[in-house]
Parts: sequence; C-alpha cells; structure tokens
Amino acid sequence: MPGKVAKIGTFSDWVGMFDDWRKEIGVNRDEIASFKFDTLYGAIETEEIQFGAFKGRRKWENLRQVPTQQMRDALINLIVYQGDTEFASVEQQRHLFESAPTDWDRKAITRVMIEEMRHGWQMCALLVDHFGYSGKVEAQKMLERRAFENKRLLGAFNVDVDNWMDFFTYTDFVDRDGKFQLQMLKYSAFAPLGRSMSYMLREEAFHMGTGNDGLRRIVEAGVIPAWLIQKYLNKWISSSYDLFGTDNSSSAHWAYVWGIKGRYDELQNQHEAQLDELNDYNRHVYRSEVAGSTAPSAAGRGRSSMPRRASRWMTRPTSST
Ligand SMILES: [Fe+2]
Ligand SMILES: [Fe+2]
Repeated sequence: MPGKVAKIGTFSDWVGMFDDWRKEIGVNRDEIASFKFDTLYGAIETEEIQFGAFKGRRKWENLRQVPTQQMRDALINLIVYQGDTEFASVEQQRHLFESAPTDWDRKAITRVMIEEMRHGWQMCALLVDHFGYSGKVEAQKMLERRAFENKRLLGAFNVDVDNWMDFFTYTDFVDRDGKFQLQMLKYSAFAPLGRSMSYMLREEAFHMGTGNDGLRRIVEAGVIPAWLIQKYLNKWISSSYDLFGTDNSSSAHWAYVWGIKGRYDELQNQHEAQLDELNDYNRHVYRSEVAGSTAPSAAGRGRSSMPRRASRWMTRPTSST
C-alpha cells in the first residue's frame, strides 16, 4: 500500500500491536487483559459457490484461487471495512464501564467489547494470513485509526457512544446491521471469510439482545420521556440504514457478481438479484426486521422484549447519500 511500511511480519507481531492498542484506548481492564483471544473458523453450508458468475464452482481457499486482481482488491476492501467497524465500536464505547447501571450491565458490556475485539482480530488474521504484504499493512492501519480522531472509515463509527441509552440503542440497531453484514459475508465464495462468520454471528446475537433488553427496561421504567427515546432511535436507526451503502452501488453490484457478498436472505430468496438495488434491498429487509422488532431477548434474562413495537418510533428509510 502506498506510503506505508509494514511493521509486522507475522500475526504474533500484530498481536503485540493489539495489546498496545487496548492499553492506549483505556479498555485493558483485568477481565479483558486476561481474555485469551482466538481465531475461530466455523462451518459453512456448502463448499460450492451459490450465486454470481462463478456459481457451482468450488469456493476459493486462498488468494491464488481468486480469479482476478480486481476481485482480490474487492475482498480485501470488504474485510478492512468490516474489521474497522469492530475496533471502532470498542473505541466508541470505551467510557461506559464506570457508568454501568448495574454489575450485570458492566459484565454485558465487557463481553460485548471482548467480542468486538475478537471480530476485529478475526478480520486481521484473515488479512495477515491471506493477503500478503498489503494485508499486513491494512491490519496494522486497523489499529492506528481512531474513532475519537474521526479516522474510522464510516461516519457512524466516529461518534462517541457516551451514555447507556445511547449504548442500548446502538447495540440493538447498529449491531443488528452488523448481523446483516456478517450474514451476507457468510455466503462468500472466499471460504475463509465465510467460515469466519459463524462464531461472529453467534456473538452478535448477544450484542443485539443486550441492546433490546436494555431498551425494554428503560421503556418499562417509564422515566425517560418518549421524545428523548425517539431521538436516540432516530440517530441510530438512520445511521444503520446508511450503513447498507448507496443505492446503485457498483461495488455491491460487482461483489455479488463475483460471489463474494450475497443478499441477506440469499439461500431462501427465489428471485433473481436486482444487481443495482442490492443495498436498497438489504436495507428493506433490515427495516422489516426492525419494524417487527419483538425478538426475544438473547441476553438470557428470560423476559419478553420491548413491549411496544419499535415500528411506532420509526421513520421510513430514505435513500442514502
Ligand atoms: Fe462485531
Ligand atoms: Fe456486535
């Protein structure tokens, strides 16, 4: 990559940088410092490419099997953007430990943060292990950008999440967007990327459950006025719509044609993909999920989810800029 010299030769060099990053942003609490991070690969439905121009061929296990340089570039780009959001979210939430409303919440945010770090770790492991020199440079840059210096790649990930209302709304809606992105990458023709998604998706369910459960408790307590809750919903639901990307996106078009990123419901969807409306399509599927947001809490508390349907607070998606 132009203008940047890799300081890392192996993944363990990267791990050293990751340890420094945790200390530097101030999240290296005991439970986090002692956590043993791992690269986890899970199962994918099939070894066969399921959509796009290479449908029916065997998925690619390494970069040499990826047919063109443009496709390799698109893949590295997808992985870099995904990883960047993972580390960014930890930076955004870094001040919330002290103000946790209960011990249970403090434990929940610690788990959320550990898992977001692991997601970033997983993306960097892919970059370092599969993408040669460029991958190493990108994995290093991932730990050099800072949300609080406005350097993260997507605007929504440069905003501080500075109170618990903000945190619960963020995890219910932005982490849900995360779930959508991960699911779309799970179908990837690049098998190591697809296999990276199973554990990440499982972990994502806990983040969404934490947010949903927190919002339900807030609504039930009846202390925060509806207009204020509405403001937080507006903030993060609109950001989440934007995270699906622009309409008529050529990168989404080609990512689909090349088989590296599918539609959210790719395996159930019987219709041919509208290549120039992919982002808008996925955004609408997301909107439907949120509008019917009565998903049971995954946070393990066994209570019902938000009593009032989130759709009552929602505005319709507009096309993103
Ligand atoms: Fe994540
Ligand atoms: Fe998450």
